[in-house]
Amino acid sequence: MTGRLLRRGLATAAVALAALSLQSTGTTATAAPQPVVGGTRAAQGEFPWMIRLSMGCGGALYTQQIVLTAAHCVSGSGNNTSITATAGVVDLNSSAATKVRSTKVLQAPGYNGNGKDWALIKLAQPINLPTLKIADTTAYNSGTFTVAGWGAAREGGGQQRYLLKADVPFVSDAACSSAYSGSLIAAEEICAGNLAQGGVDTCQGDSGGPMFRRDNAGAWIQVGITSWGEGCARAGYPGVYTEVSTFAAAIRSAAAGL
Ligand code: ARG
Repeated sequence: MTGRLLRRGLATAAVALAALSLQSTGTTATAAPQPVVGGTRAAQGEFPWMIRLSMGCGGALYTQQIVLTAAHCVSGSGNNTSITATAGVVDLNSSAATKVRSTKVLQAPGYNGNGKDWALIKLAQPINLPTLKIADTTAYNSGTFTVAGWGAAREGGGQQRYLLKADVPFVSDAACSSAYSGSLIAAEEICAGNLAQGGVDTCQGDSGGPMFRRDNAGAWIQVGITSWGEGCARAGYPGVYTEVSTFAAAIRSAAAGL
């Protein structure tokens, strides 16, 4: 329940954070920047489908003209020209960035703040970059995942200028549900993180961004959408992600109608 409340709070926080100037945190000299939380800097072009959204969330190119993000990052469905998607750069301040406005938003049907945390944003023009395919079976809902984003590098920290990435191990529904006192919606959410030690996680401002891994053919495949957690990178509290395979059919049909 704390987690549930937290999610709503963080959605608001993400909007508030978007108003702040971007800053690079990370302690000087002694340590490399700690991306996401406990990560490292992504290389230019490493995750070409990564999108930064102007309300302070992440996303991924589902098609060249549709961004998959979190429902809690948007305020509803309909025509919407207020969102700017930034693509093609790890450095948000780069003059090489592609910036495209939204035209429409589709928030997951039935979204009420618990589960179903996905949304689509249609762009005014296609972006000529690779897309990230989504998992449409449970086959890849295990193993080690990669997360990325421009969100806080520590709980309570500022948004990042450079894209950060980290690897997070799968956490079972049983362990995650127990960590969150039963508030996990196991059919709709998938958890990841270092349950015993913490230290690596997504954080505020990473919401809506993808959690992904390699499929059997070696291609990146999206298995999660950053959704919520109790704080960031705390021991005993894994990150909670929208389980993409559960919603793959709904996402596909929503995108076809957008
Ligand atoms: N809800 C957050 C956002 O809006 C993401 C939180 C993820 N937290 C976590 N501990 N994994 O950016």
